[in-house]
Amino acid sequence: MSGKHILVAVAWPYASGSRHLGHLAGAYLPADIFARYHRLAGNRVLMVSGSDVHGTPITVRADQEGVEPQVIVDRYHNEFLRNWEELGISWDLYTSTGTDNHREVTWDVFRTLHEHGYIVPKTTQQFYDPEAERFLPDRYVEGTCPHCGYESARGDQCDHCGRQLDPEDLVDPRSRITGATPVMRPTEHYFLRLSAFEDRLLDWLQSRTGWRRHVLNMAIGFTREGLQDRAITRDLTWGIPLPPEFTEIGEGKRIYVWFEAVIGYLSASKEWAQRRGEPDAWQAWWTDPDAESYYFIGKDNIVFHAVIWPCQLMGYGGLNLPTDVPANQYVTFKGEKGSASRGVGRSISWYTERLQPDALRYALAANLPEQNDTDLSDGDIVRRVNEELVATWGNLVNRVLSMTAKNFDGAVPEPGELTDVDRSLLERVDRGLEDEARMIEKVELRAGLRTAMEVAQAVNAYLNATEPWKTAKSDRARTGTVLWTAIQSLAALSVGFEPYLPFSSARLRGMLGLDEPLRWGRLDVAPGTRLGSIEPLFGKLDEDVLTD
Ligand code: MF3
Ligand code: ZN
Repeated sequence: MSGKHILVAVAWPYASGSRHLGHLAGAYLPADIFARYHRLAGNRVLMVSGSDVHGTPITVRADQEGVEPQVIVDRYHNEFLRNWEELGISWDLYTSTGTDNHREVTWDVFRTLHEHGYIVPKTTQQFYDPEAERFLPDRYVEGTCPHCGYESARGDQCDHCGRQLDPEDLVDPRSRITGATPVMRPTEHYFLRLSAFEDRLLDWLQSRTGWRRHVLNMAIGFTREGLQDRAITRDLTWGIPLPPEFTEIGEGKRIYVWFEAVIGYLSASKEWAQRRGEPDAWQAWWTDPDAESYYFIGKDNIVFHAVIWPCQLMGYGGLNLPTDVPANQYVTFKGEKGSASRGVGRSISWYTERLQPDALRYALAANLPEQNDTDLSDGDIVRRVNEELVATWGNLVNRVLSMTAKNFDGAVPEPGELTDVDRSLLERVDRGLEDEARMIEKVELRAGLRTAMEVAQAVNAYLNATEPWKTAKSDRARTGTVLWTAIQSLAALSVGFEPYLPFSSARLRGMLGLDEPLRWGRLDVAPGTRLGSIEPLFGKLDEDVLTD
């Protein structure tokens, strides 16, 4: 098979609690839309991610519940797997950072960066809780954000302004374990020498084209402030240990979660290749300079993906840097950023219990926070589904297929000679698919969906102009031509909507007697094809479906 190799790399969710709609709209759904489109376009997609099983979000939760971290990890990893299944997120591999493979790949990257002189030991001062008698990882320290004054900023980042922080940046720090004021104590750690990459990284960032403005601004701004060397080990018992020969900094150290989690993209690619029985197959996406890679993440992860991960890759050598990091802004709920740890925004599972997967996918895809923070209420979801998805697209399908069934004995009619209106609709449909493709390729997924919906509107307008329900009695030949034209358009839209609405698009193709696999472009439905049994693609939602 020909086509480009495209790595679709998707943020690894912490298995520390249910994920909410903001996560779905931020990373998983856009990645899936993009991947599904590129597969249809004939490209070789490798879409990977997995559960991030390390880091303090997990140990904080385990401490709260008085269980081992593994208990938490297993619970949420399984919930995520169900979410992906229900929503049709089409991973090539969804794994976790808890595998032996991931540890081995992390060690390889660690050793190689060390060999190249980019990892060095250093003594530093770190917050220590004198009451709990232990060093405090970043998220165990809370305080006031020095940038925006938010009072519950965490030691690793401020949820209010989205800035990455170090615990010592916090004003009035306090321990989340005991509430005590932490004190500084010396400890030894390995550091990643980010400073060594500053110039190279800045050149690379400044030569990016087509990236979202807010992503590039944040990455360039962060780099221009000067890249500081970063500790990549922690005083912890939960996490990936150091490669066994690295003993000089003493016992009780683990690799920092952010150093290893981003390596997951590489380790998952290798795991995918091993599972296929072609252990070198990952290289086509990582070492071939023509391959492309897209990292789907939320904006709080921009620095890790557009600055630090590229430095890790440069230091390792021989692996492709990101082609694009199409990070989304936040989905907000009544103006507040969704947060798993703070309980803002309901879980993905809550919604999948109440909505058809494509209805949820539609409402989110129409509201993706691609350029700005975007507020999403349950009322918006219901309105989008009823007034757009059902009213424009679902009803169109129903109307055309029922009329065909009724007047042409359940089979696609033979068209007569096409008139200008028929031809111009088919041209409009073809142009719509082309425009949509260009938009998806630029990762303008909201616009891609809007384009497909406009095509559906054009088909509705065509029917309103040709009125086949009126001509059915008087001019059977003309009615057949109109319905044939409308059916060809529906078939095309079953492709155009496939990246966004995979379940209902497949059902529509079933009703049209079309086979998979698909390719991007208009499908021909031959005259005489028998239609399957016609059922509405979507149910209209009750106003109160999303009220408890
Ligand atoms: N677990 C992190 C989060 O939820 C995201 C990690 S993305 C990765 O914010 F690539 F680093 F894994
Ligand atoms: Zn802040």
